Amino acid sequence: MKNFATLPITALLLTLLTACSAPEPDNGEIRIIPRPRHVERYEGRLTLTEQCPIVIDTADSDLLRIAGFLNERLRTAAGFELPVTAADDRAAVRFVPVDGMKSEAYLLQSGPRGVRIEYSDPAGAFYAVQTLLQMLPPAIYADTRQRGTEWTIPYARIEDEPRFAYRGMHLDVCSHFFGTEYLKRYLDLMAMHKINRFHWHLTEDQGWRIEIKRYPLLTEKGSVRRETVIGSCFSGFYDGKPYGGYYTQEEIREIVRYAAERYITVIPEIEMPGHALAAISCYPELSCGLEEHYEPATKWGVFRQVYCPKEETFRFLENVLDEVFELFPSPVIHIGGDECPKQSWKQCPHCQGLIRRMGLKDEFELQSYFIRRMERFVNSRGREIIGWDEILQGGLAPNAKVMSWLGEEGGIEAARQGHEAVMAPHSRYYLDYYQADPDTEAICMGHLVPLRTMYDYNPVPEVLTDDEKRFIIGVEGCVWTEYMPDAARVEYMAWPRMTAIAETAWSPAAKDWEGFTRRLEYHFGRLDALHVGYCRAFYDPLIQLHKDSAYTRIATIEVDAPDAEIRYTLDGSEPTAASTRYTQPFVVNRSQRIRAAAFRDGKPIGATTSKQMN
Ligand code: ACM
Ligand code: ZN
Repeated sequence: MKNFATLPITALLLTLLTACSAPEPDNGEIRIIPRPRHVERYEGRLTLTEQCPIVIDTADSDLLRIAGFLNERLRTAAGFELPVTAADDRAAVRFVPVDGMKSEAYLLQSGPRGVRIEYSDPAGAFYAVQTLLQMLPPAIYADTRQRGTEWTIPYARIEDEPRFAYRGMHLDVCSHFFGTEYLKRYLDLMAMHKINRFHWHLTEDQGWRIEIKRYPLLTEKGSVRRETVIGSCFSGFYDGKPYGGYYTQEEIREIVRYAAERYITVIPEIEMPGHALAAISCYPELSCGLEEHYEPATKWGVFRQVYCPKEETFRFLENVLDEVFELFPSPVIHIGGDECPKQSWKQCPHCQGLIRRMGLKDEFELQSYFIRRMERFVNSRGREIIGWDEILQGGLAPNAKVMSWLGEEGGIEAARQGHEAVMAPHSRYYLDYYQADPDTEAICMGHLVPLRTMYDYNPVPEVLTDDEKRFIIGVEGCVWTEYMPDAARVEYMAWPRMTAIAETAWSPAAKDWEGFTRRLEYHFGRLDALHVGYCRAFYDPLIQLHKDSAYTRIATIEVDAPDAEIRYTLDGSEPTAASTRYTQPFVVNRSQRIRAAAFRDGKPIGATTSKQMN
């Protein structure tokens, strides 16, 4: 292969000049999320036209598909595609396999001779295409022909590889159900942000969503709840409408295939021993048998009706998992393990007998017995388990990975014991928590976790030694859908916060909030082209009142949008560019209503927000 195109002199000078200093956070016009490891921008732009072929090994089916992703976008938005060929000496988008690059890494160089993409595995080539798409105008993501757009990319050199191998996004399809068409869009958005694990939460108290041929009742009956709570789980009000849905095995295969084509591994979650009410309502013999009646839960929460650790239950779960293994090639299977109340086991003669016979100390060790036993089975089938923190209770199973959601402690403990851990602490990475002022948002599941709180999270705890830190294999954003009845609400809650998680998952550890917000503001153009209904609180001042005296509060106001001025009033009037500028926290009393807006160049950029001490 010939040397890459000679770069213009200015470009070389620029390289020399910038070699000793870090690149600009957003590197001029190159505004990629997640931020690549290293970006150098050169003067000049390359125009993509039909005259610019894609050069690949045309016998490589992966590369053909990857080239197809680029062409699919060009065909739709630009109205042309690039011819795909095995050899061509024109300026081209050239995919060049090389030995020795890290998994998922790529090197993209664009110049007057075209684009040269080096990679060692197909995932690297795929991520290079994701980057290339983000180097084009945001309109490349449009679903209709964009006339009058110049399809150019800046000359640049981008060297990139992921920080973490595990970059996850979860979806709870049990609280609410989402059909396969939406799942494909979900996966497309993940892939665009270089997220490579889809954690599919398939079973819960409120519904069983995966077809298991051997146990048809699970979906015939267990996939439907009688009604759904209105408002919080304590409201006492219900909608009176049956709610259900499930995926056939054929649909599951289709999603697994679709994800694999985008270098996403689908990790199914089959919950045990808790969150099992939907299954138990179909097969009550799997429970401790303490109740007259079992039915799928109609509200959110934690329920005492859990699997009883008897032979019949283990046989059932093994049979279920055998079908799961057939459907999901993932080396790792999520077995839940969270929130298993111990009341039923305390009252159950079988459970108490088992504790005595096995010489277990208590019900926590019984939970550990349950998980270890299931792990042995999963390992015997050549797979591994991952579970939520609570699988640490009573002792961690020998080969288990931990998904740390209660906080960081589970992940820290796992790493100290030499087990791999994925960080998903709820106070940082739960996307069902509020992202804007809870006083004005529709109901959410947990406290305020604004964009910046997600962005600033460092998933590698400093208390770990360097050796232990290696066991933190990645991060995951969790989308529990209690208050997300439809896809529009999922997109509103997940985006843009998921971009912050994607950046922590992929980009080097050093944070760059200013650069991130600049890139994100530009990135909104891409999300707009894709019609993603993301939350726009980015432009709205977040007013918070903090404890002070009995009669006063301290007010702070923040806005995510970069280069914005916050102006506010205290007399109820609409803030203007001439109102008081917010520069530091201030005191308010009960009579004062704060009204704030963000301005750039004297013009408001978002909504006016407001707050008063009550
Ligand atoms: C969880 O949120 N119960 C893992
Ligand atoms: Zn029992």
